[in-house]
Amino acid sequence: MNTQAIHYDYLIIGSGAAGLLTAKYLAPHGTVALVNKGEFSDSNTYQAQGGIAGVFDANDSIENHVADTLKAGAGLCHEDVVQRIAERGGAMIQQLLTWGTPFDSRGEGLHLTREGGHSHRRIAHAKDATGKAIGETLLSHVKQHKNIHFFQHHIAIDLVTSHHLGCFQGKNSCLGAYFLKPDSKIMSITAKHTVLATGGAGKVYMYTSNPHAATGDGIAMAWRTGCTVRNMEMMQFHPTCLFHPSGASMLLSEALRGEGAHLIDDSGHRFVFDYDERGELAPRDVVARAIDHEIKKQGKDCMFLDAQGLGETLILKQFPNIHRRLMDLGLDMRTSPIPIVPAAHYICGGVASSLAGETDVEDLYVIGESACTGLHGANRLASNSLLECLVMAETCSQKILNTTSNHGHLLIPAWNDAGIVPEQERIQIKQNWDEIRAVMSHYVGIVRSNLRLRRAKRRLLVVQEEIANFYWRHPLNRDLIELRNLALVADLMVRSAQQRHESRGLHYSTDYPQQLPVAKDTELTPE
Ligand code: FAD
Ligand code: SIN
Repeated sequence: MNTQAIHYDYLIIGSGAAGLLTAKYLAPHGTVALVNKGEFSDSNTYQAQGGIAGVFDANDSIENHVADTLKAGAGLCHEDVVQRIAERGGAMIQQLLTWGTPFDSRGEGLHLTREGGHSHRRIAHAKDATGKAIGETLLSHVKQHKNIHFFQHHIAIDLVTSHHLGCFQGKNSCLGAYFLKPDSKIMSITAKHTVLATGGAGKVYMYTSNPHAATGDGIAMAWRTGCTVRNMEMMQFHPTCLFHPSGASMLLSEALRGEGAHLIDDSGHRFVFDYDERGELAPRDVVARAIDHEIKKQGKDCMFLDAQGLGETLILKQFPNIHRRLMDLGLDMRTSPIPIVPAAHYICGGVASSLAGETDVEDLYVIGESACTGLHGANRLASNSLLECLVMAETCSQKILNTTSNHGHLLIPAWNDAGIVPEQERIQIKQNWDEIRAVMSHYVGIVRSNLRLRRAKRRLLVVQEEIANFYWRHPLNRDLIELRNLALVADLMVRSAQQRHESRGLHYSTDYPQQLPVAKDTELTPE
C-alpha cells in the first residue's frame, strides 16, 4: 500500500485538556501535528463537570491539598509529585482565567465548591461543565496558531520505534505513528517528539461515565512499544451515575453532594454514615463501595441522590446542565430523588511516566489520564485530574523544549496490508466488545476475588486469541482498532489486580481484605 507520510517537529495524539495545552505551549517553537480520532466533544475533558482543584481560600493551604490527596490515595501516592502538582494549582487556574475560561465567581473572587475527600472548598468550576469551558478556551487558542495542524477523525493505530526499523543500537526511541484516515487509507506522521494524550479507558466496562473515545488506545500502544504500565488495577468508580432505562451514562457531579445532596435508599435512610462518619463526602472508593454493598444487600437496582434540599435557586445557578439533561429524561431533581449507581469513571493507573511524561521509550511522552505519575495513588481525589493534565502539559513541553531528539527525520516503512481479505461481517467485533465489557463488569468490578479474576483472565485470553486471528486479515476500521486496545487494557488490569494481594483504595479483594503494611506500586513491563 502507498502510505502517505508527513513530518512535523511535534506529534501530539489526543486533543483533551492535556493534548491541547501541550500543543499551545509547543507551537511557538515548531510545527505541531495535533491528532484526534473524533471531535473534541468525544473526550473525557469535554464531559468534566465538578471542576479543577486549586488553593485559593484564605483558610486553605498547599499542605492541606497535599494531605487530602495523600489520604485519598491510601498510601500509594508519590509524595513529590503530589507536592509539585498541588503547588501549581492556583497558577494554572489563574492562567486559564487570563486565557478566557469562564470560571464562576462570587463577589471579588472565584466561587469554590466542595467534593468528597477535600477538607476545604477548593474546586474552581464553570457551572457544572468545567471541562467543556477549559477545553473550548484552549481549543480557540490552538485553532488560531499557524504552526498547529489539527487532524480530526484520524485514529492512531500504532507507534513506530527505532526497534521496529531494526535499529537496536541505543535506547528504543519513538519516531511517530500510523493513522487510519477518514477515507480508510493509512498515513504515517513522523516527529522528533511524540506525545500520547489519549485519555482514559472507561469503555472497558459496561457502565461508565466516559464517552465513546475512552478505549485505552494510548496505554495499549505504549505497552506494545515497550513501556511499563503501573497500577492498572486502580479503576475508580464514580458513586453517582444516573440509573435510567435509556442507558444514558450520565454523571451526577460530586459537587452536588459537596453542596449538600444526600445519598438515600428507597426508604429514605442515609446509609453512607453506616460505613464512614464523613458520610456523602467520604472519598469515592468508600462511597462507591457503600452504594454497591447496599444495592447487593437490599437486592435493589439502584440507590438515590436526593438534591431537593439544595433548593431551586442553587440548582439552576450551579447545575443548569445536569438539571436540563435530567429534565429531558423526565426527571426533576428539584422535586424528587434521582436513581443512581456507581460506574467506571477514571483510570488511576496507566503508563508509568514522570511528571514530564517521560516513559521507557525515548522521545515518547505520555500525559494526562493515560499516564500514571503517582499523583492519584490507589484512589484519585476529585478534581485533581484536570489539574494533573495541565501541569503535565506544562512540564512535558518544557522537557521537550530542553531535549534534543536523537533521531533525525527517518522514513518509516509503508503500512503492510498483505493478506487482507475483503470485509465479510462485523458481528465478531461487536461480540468481542460486548464480551470484554461484560467480563470486566462482572468479574473485575468494585469487589474482586481470586476466583473472579481467574475467570476474567481465562475469558479475556479467548477473546484476545480471536482478535489476533482476525485483526491482521481484516480491513482496519475504528471499532477494530479500539477492540484490540480494549482487550489488551482489560488484560493488563486483570494481571495487575492478580498481583495485588491486599485491599487498598480502589482495589478491594474478598480474598485479601487487609491492607499490607507497606504500599507498593504494581508494575508490569512488556517482555
Ligand atoms: P481526554 O480529555 O479524554 O482526551 C483524549 C483524546 O484523545 C480524546 O479526544 C480522544 O478522542 C483522543 N484519542 C484517544 N485515542 C486516540 C487514538 N487512538 N487516536 C487519536 N486520538 C485518540 N476531572 C476533574 O479533574 N474534574 C472534574 O470535574 C471531572 N469530571 C469528570 C466527569 C466525567 C463525566 C468524566 C468522564 C471525567 C471527569 N474528570 C474530571 C476526569 C477528567 O475529565 C479526565 O481525566 C481528563 O479530562 C483527561 O484528559 P486527557 O486530556 O488526558 O484525555
Ligand atoms: C464530578 O463532577 O463528580 C467529577 C469530578 C471528578 O471526577 O474529578
